[in-house]
Amino acid sequence: MKKNPLLGRDVISMRDFGREEIKTVLARCDEFERNPRPVLKGKVLANLFFEPSTRTRLSFDAAMKRLGGQTIGFADSISTSISKGESLWDTIRVAEGYCDVIVIRHPAEGSARLAAEATSLPVINGGDGSNQHPTQTLLDLYTLQKRTGRIAGLTVAFVGDLKYGRTVHSLIRSLSLFGAKLWLVSPPSLRLPDDFKEDLAEAETSHVEVEDLSAVPADVDVLYVTRIQKERFADPVEYERVRADYQVTPATVQRFGGKLTLMHPLPRVNELHAALDSHPGAAWFDQARNGVVVRQTLLALVLGAA
Ligand code: CP
Repeated sequence: MKKNPLLGRDVISMRDFGREEIKTVLARCDEFERNPRPVLKGKVLANLFFEPSTRTRLSFDAAMKRLGGQTIGFADSISTSISKGESLWDTIRVAEGYCDVIVIRHPAEGSARLAAEATSLPVINGGDGSNQHPTQTLLDLYTLQKRTGRIAGLTVAFVGDLKYGRTVHSLIRSLSLFGAKLWLVSPPSLRLPDDFKEDLAEAETSHVEVEDLSAVPADVDVLYVTRIQKERFADPVEYERVRADYQVTPATVQRFGGKLTLMHPLPRVNELHAALDSHPGAAWFDQARNGVVVRQTLLALVLGAA
């Protein structure tokens, strides 16, 4: 019997995942990629997206269909009864009657946890505000493992919006379980919030906060660049002030070694130059593509079919 650490579980936060569980999930993704099987025939996924998405929603859709299952859902709340005042709790209680597993993306932090409390079906967090994006982290780790052969002991520089970037919050927590050394590069107003620094302190993770990418050593293994999250700023003037400061270009990365892996969860706006697409370490389209097999594996695991 193969290990299934996710059977019947919710996937809400990387804080709920230990090192061995992450290793097992990544191994099951690898196995699934080598031997894909339509193991979810007759099952239905509800994709409930209260916030815009391209990758997360479409890759969950593709994943479920490739597993032989079907999908229902919505891409925004305007066309749902939320616009008439229905609560998230009631929406989930109703949706559970139509499906076997729920994926939710919502602008409010804690919304995925609330959804999980409303139903006994497995709930997968597709991003809750600026809090967590656990399936992005699992596909980031899977991509890193495939490209570099390891996820342990890496030196990683996170660049950009570390305050609102949920992909950063989830990935930092997981890398800290694998002995990473971190560089946190952001303007002072977008530094990593204290509650996520507690994750680093708990794991005794070495980390240095700097304002300028030029302070990061040239032998860093990974640059993880993030978009400044315009939609989370209360003050548009503050957004304008910081948005142009963190642009990564071919000239910026020239001084880093040939083994550099360059990552970005996408979408990108102007923080990552399109000419970097031809950099040998550019991983963003691989990350997006790997989202399908990782999400196939997660769906199969939570539903006990892998
Ligand atoms: N990386 C990511 O979550 O992309 P989307 O917002 O398009 O889903």
